[in-house]
Amino acid sequence: MSADHDPIPLLDLKAQYAALRDVVEPIMHDVADSQWFIGGPKLDAFEQAMADYCGTSHAVGCASGSDALLVSLMALDIGPGDEVICPSYTFFATAGSIWRLGARPVWVDIDPTTYQSDVQSITTAADQCSNLKAIMPVHLFGQACNMAAIEPIAEAHGVPIVEDAAQAIGCRDDRGRMAGSMGTTGCFSFFPSKNLGGFGDGGLITTNDADLAARMKRLRNHGMEPKYIHHEVGLNSRLDAMQAAVLHAKLPHLNDWARARQLNADDYDRMFSEAGAGDTAQQLSDCELPLLCPARPAAEQAEHIFNQYCIRVPATIRDALRAHLVEQKIGHEVYYPVPLHLQPCFESLGGAEGDLPYTEAAANESLALPIYAELTQAQKERIVTTVAAFVRANAPSAVQGV
Ligand SMILES: Cc1ncc(COP(=O)(O)O)c(C=O)c1O
Repeated sequence: MSADHDPIPLLDLKAQYAALRDVVEPIMHDVADSQWFIGGPKLDAFEQAMADYCGTSHAVGCASGSDALLVSLMALDIGPGDEVICPSYTFFATAGSIWRLGARPVWVDIDPTTYQSDVQSITTAADQCSNLKAIMPVHLFGQACNMAAIEPIAEAHGVPIVEDAAQAIGCRDDRGRMAGSMGTTGCFSFFPSKNLGGFGDGGLITTNDADLAARMKRLRNHGMEPKYIHHEVGLNSRLDAMQAAVLHAKLPHLNDWARARQLNADDYDRMFSEAGAGDTAQQLSDCELPLLCPARPAAEQAEHIFNQYCIRVPATIRDALRAHLVEQKIGHEVYYPVPLHLQPCFESLGGAEGDLPYTEAAANESLALPIYAELTQAQKERIVTTVAAFVRANAPSAVQGV
């Protein structure tokens, strides 16, 4: 039972490990005893399990989610001068993978209700591109993009979809389809903060295209096949046997963890709503308490796996709220304070403040709260009480919408 002032971390990996230690430790000893660290049966078995889980024909392990994106784009022959549509409101790796190949990220805004890439913004960007080669939607925070609307755009322009599903393992779109099964490739991260987190870095690519899978397996291993023959230049981006074995042991628990996260989100929604908050389908200015919870996907088949639970508060008090939560020892994070179109390294693309109003508003107003599966009722109540009281006492009397 946590005392009133015990720290509440944003993510408590030790709590998850305590419950799994007896399962995971023998598996790690197994790998150590085998001394088979690269490739081999542990990797093959995990790749097959992930393909089965996502409902795809193939899965290709690699060293990180960033590399999953990079290897996907390399296998799709994306290169200098090519354009790839992606959101600006995402983790850096989404656009970093495009840029590293000499291609150009073409930014799109988000739908403020879902935080996902806005379909109209994608349509407009695709029509304006002269050399569009791929669309890279990001299922941000664990909720699927509107894939049914994005697919016809990709089809009309004859380009593949690379799903950035790094935050979205197990999530389903409005038609009930698994993240990673809808695009030409789906890219996952096993960074420890993800719903399926490794004991270090790791990533994986799913696809239904056998030739693409074979090429990605070569690319992750310096483009080598057979041994010491290189038909193209790849990279060293393999998923270690140790990571594969640990992730495989955790995989059967993934849906239960997602369920626990969904129940936590239900509790947050209910308690914040009782305090007068609304959800992202509304404006901050509409709510008695100017705080927005994430609106749930409307379709019954959709599944939000809540890798993050982000609230919105007025931009003028967001950083003061952060300082207050530090004092109160309540973990939190801003995903993401500086949108990619305003990052110094992408200055040459000409992005300016005001280009993507919904993205910029989210960057200024959003705040992620703890949502991990082991969070207790008392912890959730303390978080809601602390946040709601601060917002009530400090929110400006008139809150502006975008
Ligand atoms: C949306 C998104 N894309 C890509 C990545 C990159 O994954 P990794 O950290 O495993 O390289 C992440 C990781 O945080 C992510 O959140």
